[in-house]
Amino acid sequence: MESFILGKHIIHLETVNSTNNYALEALKSGKAFHGSLISAEFQESGKGQRSNSWESSPGKNLLLSYVIQPKNLVAEKSFELNFISALAVIDLLSELAPDAKAHIKWPNDIMLNHKKVAGILIENALQSNKLKHSIIGIGINVNQQTFASDFATSISNETDSEHTLAKGALILNAKLSKWYTKMSEGKIGEILTAYNSKLWKRGKVIQAKLNNDQQQIKILDVDRFGLIHIKTKHGFLKAELGELKINYE
Ligand code: BTN
Repeated sequence: MESFILGKHIIHLETVNSTNNYALEALKSGKAFHGSLISAEFQESGKGQRSNSWESSPGKNLLLSYVIQPKNLVAEKSFELNFISALAVIDLLSELAPDAKAHIKWPNDIMLNHKKVAGILIENALQSNKLKHSIIGIGINVNQQTFASDFATSISNETDSEHTLAKGALILNAKLSKWYTKMSEGKIGEILTAYNSKLWKRGKVIQAKLNNDQQQIKILDVDRFGLIHIKTKHGFLKAELGELKINYE
């Protein structure tokens, strides 16, 4: 097993409202610190992106939040946390589901065989121009078999076998630690190349909503600030978080 710097201190909970909320409170009260991992069997009000909820059957999936206090991460570089979190999940999938196709659907969805298998919700707190702390929330569908959405899946559905959650969490700790170290060493070129090599529908013309306008666009790549470069019928543009919503099919 690789050594790791994140996820060495673990608080595991049976039921919680949201591991992200718990992690933030635990940080504030001194129960958690840089690298702490909060995990749970079940969330009563799991949070997704864009104020959505995150539903997960009890005991079936990984529900994880990492407390991060980067030493010197300036606000413009905060998207680097999204890059490394997505890449850590991709690495986990390459171990648990080596025959399946794993991709990153910009900005934060992880796809397995073209269905969503995991989501990432990063909540940052800034102090002047620096990141004071960040909670990286990761939900990975591991052993759940049925979903409300046709576009969702689990590792078990794509591999026809069950996986041990604790083993998955250990692998993720190691992978996130590896990418976090690269980020701390300023290896953004390597990180970005890896992220773009896994970018879902890269180079393809797809349907997306650009500022609420459904249209065809071509996905080019993502830059170091997390902006996605696309081609529309009006020309090239860079979209930021919240401006572009890529359809699932
Ligand atoms: C998304 O794709 O919408 C993001 C989902 C993030 C879900 C995880 S589960 C663990 C952590 N706690 C939460 O309340 N949300 C994140």
